[in-house]
Amino acid sequence: MRLYGDLAPWFHLLTAPEDYAAEAERYRSLIVGAAPGARTLLELGSGGGNNASHLKRHFSCTLSDISPQMLALSRTVNPDCEHVLGDMRTVRLGRTFDAVFVHDAVAYMATENELRDCLGTAYAHTRPGGVGLFVPDYTRETFRSRTSHGGHDGADGRSLRYLEWSTDPDPADTAYEVDYAVVLREPGHDPRVVHDHHREGLFPEHTWLYLLEQVGFESPVAHGRADPDDDTSQTAFVARRPG
Ligand SMILES: C[S@@+](CC[C@H](N)C(=O)[O-])C[C@H]1O[C@@H](n2cnc3c(N)ncnc32)[C@H](O)[C@@H]1O
Repeated sequence: MRLYGDLAPWFHLLTAPEDYAAEAERYRSLIVGAAPGARTLLELGSGGGNNASHLKRHFSCTLSDISPQMLALSRTVNPDCEHVLGDMRTVRLGRTFDAVFVHDAVAYMATENELRDCLGTAYAHTRPGGVGLFVPDYTRETFRSRTSHGGHDGADGRSLRYLEWSTDPDPADTAYEVDYAVVLREPGHDPRVVHDHHREGLFPEHTWLYLLEQVGFESPVAHGRADPDDDTSQTAFVARRPG
């Protein structure tokens, strides 16, 4: 995926850390609601560190991603956080945290086996009595085909605008498709247009709850029903590791 590879230095012009205050507050509240006193947090698929730039005020954050370019970008806004290269399906840090958080990056688990592996990684890093929080963009129930657009102007003269088009060509499988048309402008260069294609996972709520219990979490709960136009309303799955 080019957005997390050669285009990673542009990611904060696609989606900016300052836009994440409200949703990060929702995640903080869900975490401390399930694990009062939580202090340490591991994020899997932490990307540009947008949520972390807010969550780090409340937790000591360890940020993990499969993309070295995205970790490098996150370090620019979160130099005070530990960054670790790793695949959320397999990474093992050999220590546990009060909370493990997986935000929209969990969408890159496109099969049930991949999702189970990711939830297993989260469980392995959650201390007994700690909490796992998982916030996919969509569940099977909340998905609808849509287009959205956005972008930002940077202080360095670069600008980005994008159109994001989500479709589900085969409702019988566990994935949907996302096409991005991205326009990049930078001083001294002609504008460039880039196409990026992502395949993302789509699972019914009951699959999430079943898999969370299967990997060892107890009493998983789905919070909220997604309004696709409101980034603070996605279905959030909260589950505790037995203490
Ligand atoms: C949309 S970005 C996450 C942004 C993040 N929520 C934030 O607050 O900045 C998705 C991230 O998932 C990462 N990713 C995709 N597959 C992964 C995997 N198997 N393991 C770890 N990270 C992965 C990508 O490298 C990318 O950085």
